[in-house]
Amino acid sequence: MLSRLVNHRRSCSDTPSVILITGATGAIGSALAKLYAAPGVTLHLQGRQVEALKNITQECRSMGAEVQAHSIDLLDTKLVSAWLQQIDEELPIGLFIANAGMNINIGLDSEGESAEEMTQLLDLNIKATLLMSGYLAKKMRKRGRGHIALISSLAGFYGLPIMPSYCASKAAVRAYGEGLRGWLSGSGVGVTVVMPGNIESAMCDAMLGPKPFLMKPEKAAVLIKRGIERSAARVSFPFPLNMGSWFLIVLPASVSQKILKLLKY
Ligand SMILES: NC(=O)c1ccc[n+]([C@@H]2O[C@H](COP(=O)([O-])OP(=O)(O)OC[C@H]3O[C@@H](n4cnc5c(N)ncnc54)[C@H](OP(=O)(O)O)[C@@H]3O)[C@@H](O)[C@H]2O)c1
Repeated sequence: MLSRLVNHRRSCSDTPSVILITGATGAIGSALAKLYAAPGVTLHLQGRQVEALKNITQECRSMGAEVQAHSIDLLDTKLVSAWLQQIDEELPIGLFIANAGMNINIGLDSEGESAEEMTQLLDLNIKATLLMSGYLAKKMRKRGRGHIALISSLAGFYGLPIMPSYCASKAAVRAYGEGLRGWLSGSGVGVTVVMPGNIESAMCDAMLGPKPFLMKPEKAAVLIKRGIERSAARVSFPFPLNMGSWFLIVLPASVSQKILKLLKY
């Protein structure tokens, strides 16, 4: 019992020495990579864009981290499962940040989402995220230590008319992370669900609708790292948008729909 508590404490406060970050070529992922880059830390950074991956790898190496760059497509399920097994067997992963994700919307003329894009989004945001987290959760549970951070979104609280599939995918990630945390409680493995608001990035730029309380990725990364360090169940920010999103769930649905229309979502 005591050793479990000690293990749990350790997993909450220490910076793990082996960290896997998916989507490390993007705004939030690269900001996180730089924040964790330090001597004694091995970073596994994943992203498809070779040049961007090379740049973030070099930057993190210059900060003293050991970096392994992985330019793979997370939509290739077979490849991903073999890759994950291999890197975790070589050096057990202490922190997994499931950050890679994509967004789609209903289009400028509100024509609706394409089936092809919906499939890609569901495969990446849900299938890849859940399968990777589920695999590492079992491995970490056996080891009695580790941490998984799942990047959901405030959009995972209530379905926005301009991007219904994205919201659904982020709601799925939130629910999965909550379930995972309950299952792993007492095992020494922590799980944090991260729900950011609008963060400056290519994905956010391409999003339709208003983007209130836009935040820099570097600031978001600091909040995420702090939440992971204290093993928070949920890290959601910024506060006003968090509260507004939460109200959308608790208000009668007809009122929430009217509010979204007024706000031009
Ligand atoms: N920005 C926001 O306002 C915001 C708000 C809430 C939550 N989030 C979430 O935060 C996470 C990071 O987003 P971001 O804002 O940093 O966006 P971003 O800059 O567009 O980064 C997205 C990342 O996902 C990777 N990715 C996309 N498709 C992939 C695929 N098929 N296989 C492997 N990697 C893939 C991209 O890498 P490559 O292109 O190199 O493959 C990139 O590194 C996402 O999960 C997003 O949903 C963002």
